[in-house]
This record gives sequence, structure tokens and C-alpha cells, in this order.
Amino acid sequence: MNQPIPIQFPPSLAVFGSHRSVRFFRTDPLAPGDLDLIVEAGRRAPTDAQGHMYAFVRITDRTVRDRLATLCANQQHIRDAAEFFVVCLDVHRLRRLVEHRGGEWGMRERIALLYGATDATMVAQNMVVAAETLGYGTCYIGAVQNNVDVIAAELGLPAGVLPIYGLCIGVIDPAHYPPVVKPRIPRALCFFENRYPAEFSAAELESAYTAMSVKREWYEAVGAYFAVGGVMEKREPVMARAWRQQALDPKPV
Ligand SMILES: Cc1cc2nc3c(=O)[nH]c(=O)nc-3n(C[C@H](O)[C@H](O)[C@H](O)COP(=O)(O)O)c2cc1C
Repeated sequence: MNQPIPIQFPPSLAVFGSHRSVRFFRTDPLAPGDLDLIVEAGRRAPTDAQGHMYAFVRITDRTVRDRLATLCANQQHIRDAAEFFVVCLDVHRLRRLVEHRGGEWGMRERIALLYGATDATMVAQNMVVAAETLGYGTCYIGAVQNNVDVIAAELGLPAGVLPIYGLCIGVIDPAHYPPVVKPRIPRALCFFENRYPAEFSAAELESAYTAMSVKREWYEAVGAYFAVGGVMEKREPVMARAWRQQALDPKPV
């Protein structure tokens, strides 16, 4: 399983082989009916314990869209894409459903965060695959976390609902594409047999950098996001605020 086999996807799976995030969209709308197909494909995703612990806020108001783009590192593709969703984990509706039948809400923050993010991500990725199968481009927007507390408040999200990322879906601007399909780190570093490896050797770690350093040295991106002073470290206090604000900050058990 761990040999680096170059995979040729059969036509039925071609959408996976051609995936790349799209950051240049024409402003045209999706073809009639396509949004419903994409949303229903999303809704067919599995859901833990049938909890449906997700909410998608479709942003159609151009002023709101512009404001969100500004809050999300000023990414122009958020403004241009035909569709933009703020993807949220959501245990608010589930709590209401439990209480509606007289039950006492018993779900705590850790489970809510983990399972809610899982449920929402399955829906989002189903939508991505459906959209790309229909020929559209997609791009997740993790930069929602740059101002997630402000975004949650401005969208009127109640306690138990938390944005996890945005999702652009739109008509690809052909002027910017020949599609560039980015590499992935070697399979042997991510898929294991029976047991996690005791250690990653220097050679194995280098193999990831070799695979990923196509246009530029991959550490430029890895360091900028994940090292001290990077994007992820800066998001941490914002997230902490947002988790408290949305009543999802884990309490001691
Ligand atoms: C959770 C998540 C958040 C992301 N956030 C952003 C973002 O804010 N802006 C952006 O342009 N791309 C974003 N991306 C896209 C990644 O940069 C992209 O998936 C990665 O570079 C791999 O490239 P590919 O999707 O073209 O294969 C995000 C992807 C994921 C899964």
C-alpha cells in the first residue's frame, strides 16, 4: 500500500485527479438547478448519530459578501465566486430538538467541536466534489478564523454555532487556468498499516519536502503557517474568544 504508485484515475473518478483550488472566478451565476444539485449532494453526507451538526450560511447580499472578504484576508475570490457559504458546526438546532421533546441537553463542548466539524466537513466536501463534477471551481476559506468572533456575531450565530471555514463555488475564469494540480506529501507518511510509526526518519521528512517543493521551497509555506509567529499562531487567541463567545469553550470534566 505504501509504494508511491502514480495513480491514473479512471474516468468515473477523474474529478479527484483534477482537483485544484480555484481562486479566479467569473462573476456569472451557476447554471439553473446546479446549486440545488450541489446542496443536495452535500446533504447526502453521513452524519454522526444523525445529529446533522452543521449549518451553512449562504451569503447572497453583496455588501455582506464584501465585508466578509475583507475580514477573510481580503481575498478577492470570495467577492467574485457565484456562491459563498460560511460553513459552521451547529449544535444549537440539535439542542432545540432535544429540548423540544422534553430532553435535557447532555452534549458537551469537546464532542460538539469535534463531531460538529466532522459533520460540516463531510457536507462541504460532498458539495466540492459535486461542484467540480459539474465543472465549477471551488475554494475553502480558512481565513474565516482570522476574525471568527466578529463573523459569528455579524451573522447572528447563536450559542453552539461556530464558523469553521468558508466555501467559494463558482465559474472558473479560463484566463487564469491551465489547471495546476498540486502535489501531495508521500502516501507512506499518511497511510499506515496496523500501527503508527515510532518515528519519521530524516529521509522520510525530506521526501515530503522533495514532493511538495514544486514552484518554491515548501518550507516557505509550512513555516509561514505553522511555525512560531505564523498564521495559525495568530488565529489561536481569536479562536479562543470565539469559542467562549459561542459557548463552545471546553470546560473541565
Ligand atoms: C480548511 C481549508 C482552508 C483553506 N483556506 C484557504 C484560504 O483561506 N484561501 C485560499 O485561497 N485557499 C484556501 N484553502 C485551499 C488550500 O490552500 C489548498 O487546498 C491547498 O493549497 C492544496 O491545493 P489544492 O486544493 O489546489 O490541491 C484552504 C483549504 C482548506 C482545506
